[in-house]
Amino acid sequence: MDLTFVSTNAGKFREVRTILAEYDVGVRWRRASLPEIQAARLDDVVRAKLGAASRPGRYVLVEDSGLFLPALRGFPGVYSAYALQTIGLEGVLRLVGSDRRARFQTVAGLSYGGRQWLRSGACEGRLAKRPVGDHGFGYDPIFVPAGHRQTFGQMRPTEKNELSHRAHAIRRIGRLIHSWS
Ligand code: IMP
Repeated sequence: MDLTFVSTNAGKFREVRTILAEYDVGVRWRRASLPEIQAARLDDVVRAKLGAASRPGRYVLVEDSGLFLPALRGFPGVYSAYALQTIGLEGVLRLVGSDRRARFQTVAGLSYGGRQWLRSGACEGRLAKRPVGDHGFGYDPIFVPAGHRQTFGQMRPTEKNELSHRAHAIRRIGRLIHSWS
């Protein structure tokens, strides 16, 4: 089976394609930006994205992710893209003090025939002191997953795909699809 992943983010597409290949699911990329509603929860953003992206007779996959910082009561969370565009990595690092805990969360949504399935994934970690590493995208250079010393930005894609919030959510989608066959 194959599905269409809708996103403007090439990094996300590569991760999703690699992970779903483990489940014999092919991924086509529709590079399109979807309306991101202002909502307090990733689930609501994903449901709205799916509403806009769904196509009759196609399996369509979307996802939305955020970096949640307990020291900032969860900010930037659903505003992660906006925070990165405005204050950048250095700005986010300046906002936190001694409590450097961080959690990435992803909600992935699949639609087909008017139905929607949502699956989530999380990755606990902490913020690095400064950005390090050229791999990945977004907050990868400042996120150190729990039990590791390197940032996602320093890890090879295969390593990030073992640990990441997106990997957990997408593997749950893969297992769901597998359970149908
Ligand atoms: P989006 O709204 O899901 O596209 O993501 C919100 C923000 O988090 C964007 O600035 C992304 O670049 C960033 N982001 C999403 N996923 C990841 C990731 O796996 N690593 C680092 N940053 C990410």
